[in-house]
Amino acid sequence: MVETAVEVSIRYRRRVLVLSISSLKGGVGKTSVTLGLASAAYNRGIPTLVVDMDPQADSSTGLDVPTSTRVDIADVLAAPKSQKILSEAILPSGWVGEKMGHLDVISGSPRAAEFDRPSLSERYLRRLDDALTRIAKGYRLVLIDCPPSLNGLTRTAWSASSRVAVVTEPSLFSVAAADRALRAADELRQRGASDLQPLGLIVNRVRAGSTEHDYRIQEMREMFGPLVLNPPLAERAVMQQSQGSARPIHSWPGKPAEEVAASFDVLLDRALRSESIRSRRSPKKDSDKAPEKKSSGGDGAEAKTPAGQKSGK
Ligand SMILES: Nc1ncnc2c1ncn2[C@@H]1O[C@H](COP(=O)(O)OP(=O)(O)OP(=O)(O)O)[C@@H](O)[C@H]1O
Ligand SMILES: [Mg+2]
Repeated sequence: MVETAVEVSIRYRRRVLVLSISSLKGGVGKTSVTLGLASAAYNRGIPTLVVDMDPQADSSTGLDVPTSTRVDIADVLAAPKSQKILSEAILPSGWVGEKMGHLDVISGSPRAAEFDRPSLSERYLRRLDDALTRIAKGYRLVLIDCPPSLNGLTRTAWSASSRVAVVTEPSLFSVAAADRALRAADELRQRGASDLQPLGLIVNRVRAGSTEHDYRIQEMREMFGPLVLNPPLAERAVMQQSQGSARPIHSWPGKPAEEVAASFDVLLDRALRSESIRSRRSPKKDSDKAPEKKSSGGDGAEAKTPAGQKSGK
């Protein structure tokens, strides 16, 4: 029996976690988190696709994919239903060698900036979703590295995602920006991206012994409760060193790298546990089914309300 497009889309959504990594502030660690989670997934043998939505294409560089490929994310967004473009756009990360299907990348492109308009029509916002429905079935995880803004590219990424992780630093302005990002994701969810839920806040570049950082983390826990994910990521030079060498943090030698890698393992577990098995966009008969695995983590920390949620703990 031939599946309808809606049935294909539902099947794909049930088994693939699509996670956007976002923040409205630049330089807080979105790409670093994308690379760390990709490293954790690869290390565990989880088939993963990284979509580099940032025109700076930093995650493509970190994943050792040429940034001047013949076909890239800009072409995918221009023709999301073209099987030819989709198959040419997917490349294996240099981390894995030539073999496709383990850790693949759709590389970023400065040309994608043309899709970063403040107001993109619904039709445009669905383009990545259209593409992923066609290509993501072989993967268990799709990570989308977003640009530092709330324009078309981020909203296109969110429209294709079931979870968004907001990366933040433990500083006053970053906390405010994280709150805005969660509110914006909630607004988009209410306006049609009905699969989208916050995974939570990933606090990055935390310095041990910094009173200011301790204070800001405590403030975030009071503001966002269980949306503040554990563990916070420490500031470690190995992050920059491994990225500079385009190598996964899990293969970087030394104790500090091991600790960072272990933090990403925990965050990856949390992300995989969080996923919903049902599509809110699915037909009635599907949405009527019991959402028994919606929050299977058992830590009781599943986010229901994004911005400003008070601690349940
Ligand atoms: N935990 C960390 N410890 C040390 N350095 C870090 C850490 N996290 C990020 N960095 C470094 O900070 C810089 C900015 O990080 P990154 O590129 O991941 O941020 P970004 O949010 O993706 O930036 P942009 O908004 O420009 O896309 C990079 O040089 C990165 O290596
Ligand atoms: Mg980046």
